[in-house]
Amino acid sequence: MRKKIVAGNWKMNTNLQDGIYLASSINNKLLAETGIDEIGVVIAPPFTHLIAISKVINNDRICLTAQNCATESKGAYTGEVSAEMLKSVGVKAVIIGHSERREYYKECSEVLNKKVKQVLANDMKTIFCCGEKLDQRKAENHFEVIKNQLEEVVFKLSENEFDKIIIAYEPIWAIGTGVTASSDQAQEMHAYIRKLIAENFNNTIAENTTILYGGSCKPSNSVELFAKADVDGGLIGGASLKANDFLEIIKSY
Ligand code: 13P
Repeated sequence: MRKKIVAGNWKMNTNLQDGIYLASSINNKLLAETGIDEIGVVIAPPFTHLIAISKVINNDRICLTAQNCATESKGAYTGEVSAEMLKSVGVKAVIIGHSERREYYKECSEVLNKKVKQVLANDMKTIFCCGEKLDQRKAENHFEVIKNQLEEVVFKLSENEFDKIIIAYEPIWAIGTGVTASSDQAQEMHAYIRKLIAENFNNTIAENTTILYGGSCKPSNSVELFAKADVDGGLIGGASLKANDFLEIIKSY
Protein backbone atom coordinates (compact mmCIF):
# COMPACT_ATOMS: atom_id res chain seq x y z
CA MET A 1 0.00 0.00 0.00
CA ARG A 2 1.23 3.50 -0.79
CA LYS A 3 2.25 5.71 2.08
CA LYS A 4 0.00 8.48 3.38
CA ILE A 5 2.02 11.63 3.98
CA VAL A 6 1.43 15.07 5.45
CA ALA A 7 4.22 17.48 4.49
CA GLY A 8 4.83 21.02 5.71
CA ASN A 9 6.47 23.44 3.29
CA TRP A 10 7.54 26.35 5.45
CA LYS A 11 8.62 28.42 2.43
CA MET A 12 10.61 31.55 3.44
CA ASN A 13 9.16 31.81 6.94
CA THR A 14 10.53 31.78 10.50
CA ASN A 15 13.91 32.88 11.78
CA LEU A 16 16.14 30.18 13.26
CA GLN A 17 14.83 30.49 16.80
CA ASP A 18 11.18 30.41 15.76
CA GLY A 19 11.92 27.54 13.37
CA ILE A 20 13.53 25.42 16.08
CA TYR A 21 10.60 26.15 18.36
CA LEU A 22 8.10 25.17 15.67
CA ALA A 23 9.94 21.96 14.77
CA SER A 24 10.29 20.98 18.44
CA SER A 25 6.58 21.64 19.03
CA ILE A 26 5.58 19.54 16.04
CA ASN A 27 7.95 16.78 17.14
CA ASN A 28 6.74 16.72 20.74
CA LYS A 29 3.05 16.85 19.85
CA LEU A 30 3.52 14.14 17.24
CA LEU A 31 5.35 11.79 19.59
CA ALA A 32 2.63 12.30 22.22
CA GLU A 33 -0.08 11.12 19.79
CA THR A 34 -1.09 7.52 19.35
CA GLY A 35 -2.72 5.86 16.37
CA ILE A 36 -1.09 7.92 13.64
CA ASP A 37 2.22 6.08 13.41
CA GLU A 38 1.58 4.95 9.86
CA ILE A 39 1.20 8.54 8.55
CA GLY A 40 4.47 9.88 7.15
CA VAL A 41 5.31 13.36 8.44
CA VAL A 42 7.56 15.70 6.48
CA ILE A 43 8.81 19.18 7.33
CA ALA A 44 10.66 21.40 4.87
CA PRO A 45 12.23 24.35 6.74
CA PRO A 46 14.56 26.93 5.13
CA PHE A 47 18.15 25.81 4.38
CA THR A 48 19.59 27.81 7.28
CA HIS A 49 17.55 25.83 9.82
CA LEU A 50 18.17 22.29 8.62
CA ILE A 51 21.16 21.27 10.76
CA ALA A 52 19.73 22.71 13.96
CA ILE A 53 16.31 21.20 13.34
CA SER A 54 17.79 17.78 12.56
CA LYS A 55 19.07 17.81 16.14
CA VAL A 56 15.72 18.57 17.80
CA ILE A 57 13.46 16.16 15.93
CA ASN A 58 13.17 12.40 15.89
CA ASN A 59 14.57 11.82 12.41
CA ASP A 60 13.05 8.34 12.23
CA ARG A 61 9.59 9.84 12.67
CA ILE A 62 9.88 13.15 10.79
CA CYS A 63 11.39 13.27 7.33
CA LEU A 64 13.60 16.36 7.16
CA THR A 65 13.18 17.87 3.70
CA ALA A 66 14.69 20.78 1.78
CA GLN A 67 12.71 23.21 -0.39
CA ASN A 68 15.20 23.31 -3.26
CA CYS A 69 18.67 22.25 -4.40
CA ALA A 70 21.24 23.15 -7.04
CA THR A 71 21.25 21.77 -10.59
CA GLU A 72 24.97 20.95 -10.30
CA SER A 73 26.89 18.77 -7.87
CA LYS A 74 29.63 21.24 -6.87
CA GLY A 75 31.87 24.07 -8.01
CA ALA A 76 31.66 27.74 -8.86
CA TYR A 77 27.92 28.33 -8.37
CA THR A 78 27.81 31.17 -5.87
CA GLY A 79 24.88 30.99 -3.51
CA GLU A 80 23.76 27.50 -4.46
CA VAL A 81 23.28 24.50 -2.15
CA SER A 82 23.98 21.05 -3.58
CA ALA A 83 21.97 17.90 -2.98
CA GLU A 84 25.06 16.31 -1.46
CA MET A 85 25.34 19.17 1.06
CA LEU A 86 21.70 18.65 2.02
CA LYS A 87 22.19 14.93 2.40
CA SER A 88 25.24 15.55 4.61
CA VAL A 89 23.16 17.48 7.15
CA GLY A 90 20.49 14.81 7.44
CA VAL A 91 18.03 15.82 4.73
CA LYS A 92 16.11 12.90 3.25
CA ALA A 93 13.96 14.54 0.56
CA VAL A 94 13.82 17.68 -1.59
CA ILE A 95 10.84 19.58 -3.00
CA ILE A 96 11.37 20.19 -6.72
CA GLY A 97 9.19 22.08 -9.19
CA HIS A 98 7.15 24.15 -6.76
CA SER A 99 5.09 26.67 -8.70
CA GLU A 100 6.77 29.54 -6.84
CA ARG A 101 10.16 28.39 -8.15
CA ARG A 102 8.77 27.86 -11.64
CA GLU A 103 7.18 31.32 -11.62
CA TYR A 104 9.60 33.59 -9.72
CA TYR A 105 12.89 31.87 -10.56
CA LYS A 106 11.93 30.74 -14.06
CA GLU A 107 12.72 27.10 -13.38
CA CYS A 108 11.84 25.24 -16.56
CA SER A 109 11.65 21.49 -17.08
CA GLU A 110 15.30 21.34 -18.13
CA VAL A 111 16.34 22.81 -14.78
CA LEU A 112 13.92 20.56 -12.89
CA ASN A 113 15.31 17.47 -14.63
CA LYS A 114 18.80 18.34 -13.48
CA LYS A 115 17.63 18.93 -9.92
CA VAL A 116 15.70 15.66 -9.74
CA LYS A 117 18.81 13.83 -11.02
CA GLN A 118 20.91 15.46 -8.30
CA VAL A 119 18.44 14.42 -5.62
CA LEU A 120 18.31 10.85 -6.93
CA ALA A 121 22.10 10.64 -7.21
CA ASN A 122 22.25 11.38 -3.50
CA ASP A 123 19.69 8.73 -2.67
CA MET A 124 17.03 11.10 -1.41
CA LYS A 125 13.35 11.32 -2.31
CA THR A 126 11.84 14.03 -4.49
CA ILE A 127 8.51 15.70 -3.82
CA PHE A 128 7.73 16.78 -7.36
CA CYS A 129 5.12 19.54 -7.67
CA CYS A 130 2.79 20.15 -10.57
CA GLY A 131 -0.18 22.48 -10.93
CA GLU A 132 -2.12 24.63 -13.33
CA LYS A 133 -2.86 28.36 -13.31
CA LEU A 134 -6.40 29.67 -12.98
CA ASP A 135 -6.67 30.71 -16.63
CA GLN A 136 -5.49 27.26 -17.70
CA ARG A 137 -8.24 25.66 -15.63
CA LYS A 138 -10.83 28.12 -16.92
CA ALA A 139 -9.77 27.23 -20.47
CA GLU A 140 -10.10 23.55 -19.48
CA ASN A 141 -6.44 22.92 -20.24
CA HIS A 142 -5.60 21.74 -16.75
CA PHE A 143 -5.26 18.05 -17.57
CA GLU A 144 -2.93 18.78 -20.46
CA VAL A 145 -0.80 21.17 -18.36
CA ILE A 146 -0.30 18.54 -15.67
CA LYS A 147 0.43 15.84 -18.25
CA ASN A 148 3.12 17.99 -19.85
CA GLN A 149 4.70 18.90 -16.50
CA LEU A 150 4.97 15.21 -15.59
CA GLU A 151 6.08 14.04 -19.03
CA GLU A 152 8.82 16.65 -19.24
CA VAL A 153 10.44 15.57 -15.99
CA VAL A 154 9.43 12.58 -13.88
CA PHE A 155 8.05 10.39 -16.68
CA LYS A 156 11.53 10.47 -18.22
CA LEU A 157 12.91 8.56 -15.24
CA SER A 158 13.42 4.81 -15.06
CA GLU A 159 11.02 2.72 -12.98
CA ASN A 160 13.61 2.43 -10.22
CA GLU A 161 14.14 6.16 -10.17
CA PHE A 162 10.42 6.94 -10.21
CA ASP A 163 10.07 4.77 -7.12
CA LYS A 164 11.71 7.68 -5.22
CA ILE A 165 9.20 10.26 -6.43
CA ILE A 166 6.24 11.64 -4.48
CA ILE A 167 3.90 13.74 -6.59
CA ALA A 168 2.27 16.88 -5.20
CA TYR A 169 -0.65 18.33 -7.17
CA GLU A 170 -0.89 22.00 -6.26
CA PRO A 171 -3.32 24.06 -8.35
CA ILE A 172 -1.70 27.50 -8.39
CA TRP A 173 -5.04 29.27 -7.93
CA ALA A 174 -5.41 27.49 -4.58
CA ILE A 175 -1.97 28.27 -3.14
CA GLY A 176 -2.07 30.81 -0.34
CA THR A 177 -5.38 32.16 -1.59
CA GLY A 178 -7.72 30.52 0.89
CA VAL A 179 -9.51 28.95 -2.09
CA THR A 180 -9.13 25.17 -1.92
CA ALA A 181 -9.82 22.85 -4.80
CA SER A 182 -13.00 20.96 -3.93
CA SER A 183 -12.39 17.40 -2.84
CA ASP A 184 -13.99 16.29 -6.12
CA GLN A 185 -11.65 18.50 -8.16
CA ALA A 186 -8.66 17.11 -6.25
CA GLN A 187 -9.82 13.52 -6.65
CA GLU A 188 -10.46 14.00 -10.36
CA MET A 189 -6.92 15.28 -10.96
CA HIS A 190 -5.27 12.74 -8.66
CA ALA A 191 -7.05 9.87 -10.41
CA TYR A 192 -5.93 11.32 -13.75
CA ILE A 193 -2.30 11.56 -12.54
CA ARG A 194 -2.45 7.96 -11.32
CA LYS A 195 -3.82 6.86 -14.71
CA LEU A 196 -0.91 8.65 -16.44
CA ILE A 197 1.58 6.91 -14.14
CA ALA A 198 0.00 3.55 -15.01
CA GLU A 199 0.26 4.33 -18.73
CA ASN A 200 3.87 5.49 -18.48
CA PHE A 201 5.06 2.78 -16.10
CA ASN A 202 2.56 0.19 -14.91
CA ASN A 203 -0.39 -0.35 -12.59
CA THR A 204 1.70 -1.49 -9.65
CA ILE A 205 3.85 1.63 -9.74
CA ALA A 206 0.74 3.80 -10.10
CA GLU A 207 -0.90 2.14 -7.09
CA ASN A 208 2.26 2.60 -5.03
CA THR A 209 2.84 6.28 -5.82
CA THR A 210 1.90 8.78 -3.14
CA ILE A 211 0.06 11.78 -4.61
CA LEU A 212 -0.36 14.76 -2.28
CA TYR A 213 -2.76 17.68 -2.60
CA GLY A 214 -1.54 21.21 -1.89
CA GLY A 215 -3.29 24.56 -1.86
CA SER A 216 -5.01 26.15 1.14
CA CYS A 217 -5.26 22.79 2.87
CA LYS A 218 -6.16 23.31 6.53
CA PRO A 219 -7.80 21.45 9.44
CA SER A 220 -11.26 22.50 8.25
CA ASN A 221 -10.94 20.84 4.83
CA SER A 222 -8.27 18.16 5.21
CA VAL A 223 -10.68 15.47 6.42
CA GLU A 224 -12.81 15.78 3.30
CA LEU A 225 -9.82 16.02 0.96
CA PHE A 226 -7.96 13.07 2.49
CA ALA A 227 -11.10 10.93 2.39
CA LYS A 228 -10.82 10.78 -1.40
CA ALA A 229 -9.45 7.53 -2.79
CA ASP A 230 -6.52 9.00 -4.71
CA VAL A 231 -5.58 11.80 -2.31
CA ASP A 232 -2.74 10.36 -0.23
CA GLY A 233 -2.15 13.37 1.98
CA GLY A 234 -1.17 17.00 1.66
CA LEU A 235 1.63 19.46 1.02
CA ILE A 236 0.77 22.22 3.43
CA GLY A 237 2.02 25.81 3.34
CA GLY A 238 0.49 28.34 5.73
CA ALA A 239 -1.14 25.85 8.08
CA SER A 240 2.16 23.99 8.56
CA LEU A 241 3.55 27.05 10.40
CA LYS A 242 1.22 26.41 13.34
CA ALA A 243 2.06 23.22 15.21
CA ASN A 244 -1.53 22.66 16.35
CA ASP A 245 -3.01 23.10 12.86
CA PHE A 246 -0.35 20.88 11.31
CA LEU A 247 -1.06 18.17 13.89
CA GLU A 248 -4.80 18.48 13.27
CA ILE A 249 -4.19 17.94 9.56
CA ILE A 250 -2.02 14.87 10.27
CA LYS A 251 -4.80 13.55 12.50
CA SER A 252 -7.35 13.95 9.70
CA TYR A 253 -6.65 10.36 8.86
P1 13P B 1 -0.78 27.04 1.22
O1 13P B 1 -1.14 25.82 2.05
O2 13P B 1 -0.30 28.19 2.04
O3 13P B 1 -1.86 27.38 0.24
O4 13P B 1 0.51 26.60 0.35
C1 13P B 1 0.49 25.42 -0.37
C2 13P B 1 1.83 25.18 -0.91
O5 13P B 1 2.29 25.86 -1.82
C3 13P B 1 2.63 24.08 -0.32
O6 13P B 1 3.77 23.83 -1.06
